[in-house]
Formats: sequence, C-alpha cells, structure tokens
Amino acid sequence: MTSSTNQFLKPVTTRVNDAGNLEIGGCDLVDLAEKYATPLYVVDENTIRSVCRDYKKAFEKYSKIHMMYASKALCTSAVTRILDEEGFGFDTVSSGEIYTVYKSGVNMSHVLFNGNNKSYDELSLALDLGVGRISVDNFFELALLNEIAQSKNKNVDILLRITPGIECHTHEYIQTGHLDSKFGFDLTQIDEAVELILNEYKNLKIHGLHAHIGSQIFETSIYPDEIEILVREIARLDEKFSLKLDEINIGGGIGVKYTETDMPPSIYDIGQLVVDKLDIMIGKYGIEPPTVFLEPGRSIISTAGVTLYTVGSSKQVPHGRKYIAVDGGMADNPRPSMYQANYLAEVANKKGDNIPKEKITLAGRFCESGDVLIPEIELPQLDEGDIICVYNTGAYNYSMASNYNKVSKPAMVLVNNSQSDIIISRETLEDLMSHEIIPDRLKK
Ligand code: LLP
Repeated sequence: MTSSTNQFLKPVTTRVNDAGNLEIGGCDLVDLAEKYATPLYVVDENTIRSVCRDYKKAFEKYSKIHMMYASKALCTSAVTRILDEEGFGFDTVSSGEIYTVYKSGVNMSHVLFNGNNKSYDELSLALDLGVGRISVDNFFELALLNEIAQSKNKNVDILLRITPGIECHTHEYIQTGHLDSKFGFDLTQIDEAVELILNEYKNLKIHGLHAHIGSQIFETSIYPDEIEILVREIARLDEKFSLKLDEINIGGGIGVKYTETDMPPSIYDIGQLVVDKLDIMIGKYGIEPPTVFLEPGRSIISTAGVTLYTVGSSKQVPHGRKYIAVDGGMADNPRPSMYQANYLAEVANKKGDNIPKEKITLAGRFCESGDVLIPEIELPQLDEGDIICVYNTGAYNYSMASNYNKVSKPAMVLVNNSQSDIIISRETLEDLMSHEIIPDRLKK
C-alpha cells in the first residue's frame, strides 16, 4: 500500500546539506538557531501540504468527504491559512481557537465547535461568528444552546457527539470513545436527546452524529467499527423518528511515527477501509450517502514540526548516567513527562559519521526531576553549544506549552523553499509581566 506522510519520522524536506548540517525546508537548522535563538519550533510547510494531499487523495473515491483540521494540535494563524488554502475546515474547542480561525480569514461555515463543557460566552461567540456546526456533547449543553439561540433569534445547526463504546489501544489519557468517557451522549441517551431536539428545542436543527475514539491510534479497524455504529444509529433514528440525518463525523486520531519502532497506519489504507465500509453500510440500510467529516490534528501537523535546542550543562552521575541539559524541556514539550511519550533527536551540527557516540539522558532546564525529554538516546558526543533537533514536535507541543518557571514560550518559524518566516514571536520578559497588576495598597 502507498505510504503517507504521517509514517515519516522527519519532515519530508529533511536532509544533510553541504555544510554537513541538518536542513529542513531548505533552511540550515544551525543558521535558524543562530538567527532566531533557541528553543525554536520549526514547521515545514511542504510536509503539511504533503499530508493534506494524502488525505484528499486517500478519500477521493467518496465524493462527500469533508476534511477538518483539529486545531487543538497547533492553532496559529499562519498554519490555519495553509490548511484553509488546502481546502480544510476546522474543528475548534474554545473561543480562543474559534477566534484564531476567524481572524485568519476562514469561512466560518467550515468550522465545527466541539467540547464537553462549552460556556455560555463561548457558545454565544460561536453563534455570533457564524460557526457552521456545533457538536453538542450533553443534555446541559442542549438546553443552554437552545436558550442562547432563542435569545439571538437564530437557528443553530448541530451534530450530537456520541460515545460509541469502542476502545483503542493508546495512552488512557487520550482515549475518548470508550463507554466510561466524559465525552458525548451514551448510546442509550441518544433517543432522549433527539426527542428533546424535535419537541422542545425548536432553535436546534440536528444534521448528524459525531464520534471520536482517541488519539495516536495505530489500529485501522476502529474507523469501520465507528462507521458501523454511526450509520446504524442514523438508520435507526430515521425509522423511529422519521428523522433524516445526512452527516457523520468520525473524528481524528490517526497516529504518527515518533520513533523508529512506531508503525502508524497509512492514511491510504484508512481511506480505503472507510470508503469500503461506507459502501457496505449505505447498501445495507438503503440510505442516501451521508456527508462524512474527518477531523485529524496530530497526523496533519506533528511530522512537520521539530524543536531546536542548544546544549548547555552536563552531569556525569558517578557510575550512573550522563545528563545533557538543553535550554527547553517540559514547558515547551510536556508530552514526555505527561504521557511518557518517546522522541527521536539528532545533533543538527554533527552529522558526520566519524564522531564517537555516547549514550545520554537528554534533560530539560526546568526545576523538576521529571523534566527529561529523552530518557536514553545515543548521540554523537555533545559539547556545549551544539544544536539538538527533536523530531515530530508539531502537534500538542506549542499548544500545550506553559510558562512554568516563568520561562518565555519559544518562537515558531515556518520554513519553505529556503525561506524562513517567524509565525509566532518569542515571548519577552515584558510579555510575561503583561497581565500582572499590583494593587495600589501594595505599591512602593
Ligand atoms: N476530534 C476530537 C473530538 C478530539 O478530541 C481530538 C483530539 C481530535 C479530533 C484530534 O485527534 P488527533 O487526530 O490529533 O489524534 N494532548 C494529547 C492529545 C489529546 C487529543 C485530544 N483530542 C497528546 O499530546 O497526545
């Protein structure tokens, strides 16, 4: 089967250049580190566009596919512009994400709003900005949304988020589709929700059902399983309520390759399985082909991103391991400490073969013993000032970054055709203080 970009460990443009340094998007990583300082997030435009093409091609046999990007993976206006150009819509989960896509010039009818506890203000903003679909998660939200819609004299187009009861094998923190999940209506609650929508919540118009099973998934079977349940439910609701639903959203979740041993599935394989299963289910129930939404996040943006760090101090524990510390860590990439996530790193300025290697622990600079980026890795012997490139940091790194230890968040640079552009500037000390207020009685 054809391989897809999420199966690559490194951005598609990665190579060693004539200077013997790592290069991405035609830009020498050592030069980038010098120009913009480190830690630095680097995003390769070519890799993003390449995976977008994979998705479009993989599902082209089913004409009613709509690709959405789960912006929680990395929500910045430049990346939003690229995905908008590629024809993707956007799955959002907060007013911040909604506002970012709005300010990026996206047609808001291509935006979906998700989440298990959307606030009055967030729902209100979504209605004011014309968000295309709201995926309603629970009974509380149905009532709240109807009330807001009534007060604005608007009708709202919704999906119902359901919990299909499918388990996947990923970290338990990022599973969502199993029965004991905080997200969505249980299968046994769907009818009551539909009755409320049809009889009481007159400002809500339901178009379909939505599910999401989990994240960093390698099993391909969950997608046909999910389609089976979603289409079965649509057919059942038609029979029981004469309700014609014509949309299903099968969520995101396709895994990526963080290390050599990770074997994520090909997007083309999943495309084939989804299209085949849709054909079977449409035939089985004799329904009109529904519009199908997919909302991947990680697989769109993870491979495109790397993080550059500069080597600083080191410590050889007597008879123990050797720690090499870099100038970032758990605040710019919380995934190793949060999910025991594994990453691959290389030394951007030491790509020659004749440098002796050593086994080290790549530690962060934050005041916590758990701040270790890679517990054990063999790298060419490191010196202070070397530039480390950690791969596959495009998803859920910047978007989960914090200011722990009151450290500024790094800058992000977009690379393409030997050009580099800052898309997020580095936070300054003044930025860090910008929301702080000293009450008059404490002033000096
Ligand atoms: N749709 C819904 C409703 C979701 O909850 C998510 C992710 C996605 C789509 C996108 O899933 P993806 O294609 O990115 O796997 N912070 C964690 C990941 C949390 C994912 C939450 N939901 C991590 O760093 O691994």
